[in-house]
Amino acid sequence: MSAEDVIYERLAPFYDLMSRALLLPFGGDTRFRTDVVAAWSVQPGDRVLELGCGTGLMTRLLLDRGAIVTSVDRSEPMLARARVRAPEATFLVSDVLAFEPPGRFDRVIFSYILHELPAAARARALALARSALAPGGMVGLVDFDDSARQPVRTLIDLYLRVAEPPSARDWAAHGFRRELAAAGLRLVRSAPIGWGTARVGIAAPA
Ligand SMILES: C[S@@+](CC[C@H](N)C(=O)[O-])C[C@H]1O[C@@H](n2cnc3c(N)ncnc32)[C@H](O)[C@@H]1O
Repeated sequence: MSAEDVIYERLAPFYDLMSRALLLPFGGDTRFRTDVVAAWSVQPGDRVLELGCGTGLMTRLLLDRGAIVTSVDRSEPMLARARVRAPEATFLVSDVLAFEPPGRFDRVIFSYILHELPAAARARALALARSALAPGGMVGLVDFDDSARQPVRTLIDLYLRVAEPPSARDWAAHGFRRELAAAGLRLVRSAPIGWGTARVGIAAPA
């Protein structure tokens, strides 16, 4: 078991509580995530592939919009909670980097997973997402970003240094601006969210 798997095994019982606490200043977990799913323009009947689904907080909202959802995570304890929250979804246990998409999708979703991957792994994950798109499909993303103004900027930088892996600061600085383009993806729409601590966007093949 990798160090990351051990972290999520320990974190799983507290993850939802932590998410609620962290998103409280931004209108609360449900409101924040509902806005994100709306920004991804998911339509009823869309086939959605969710990479790094965690405890299924996004999975539930995607299902509630009428999507047909396949969700992947490598942490069994996180997935166990997702299965209870979103029983209509199909869940697969896999490392995203070794994953072979079972078909083509209208949306491939990354919600707060890319910042956990080192740069080379992010590039692979984004390439995989691009290759899994059906004609007209798009990649939906939400993750840390460095658009915040002071004093929030200092606070989020401190949070990323203390509570997240080193890859998080790297992603926040370059992810949306450089790495999507390097993976052959063009941001169609994006906007800061959570006072600029994060960005939500959708990207199409360039
Ligand atoms: C911060 S959580 C985000 C969970 C969820 N998407 C959300 O928005 O609440 C990151 C999740 O990504 C998963 N993850 C991280 N790296 C992964 C990888 N290489 N393959 C599969 N899952 C991974 C972790 O197990 C964890 O459940």
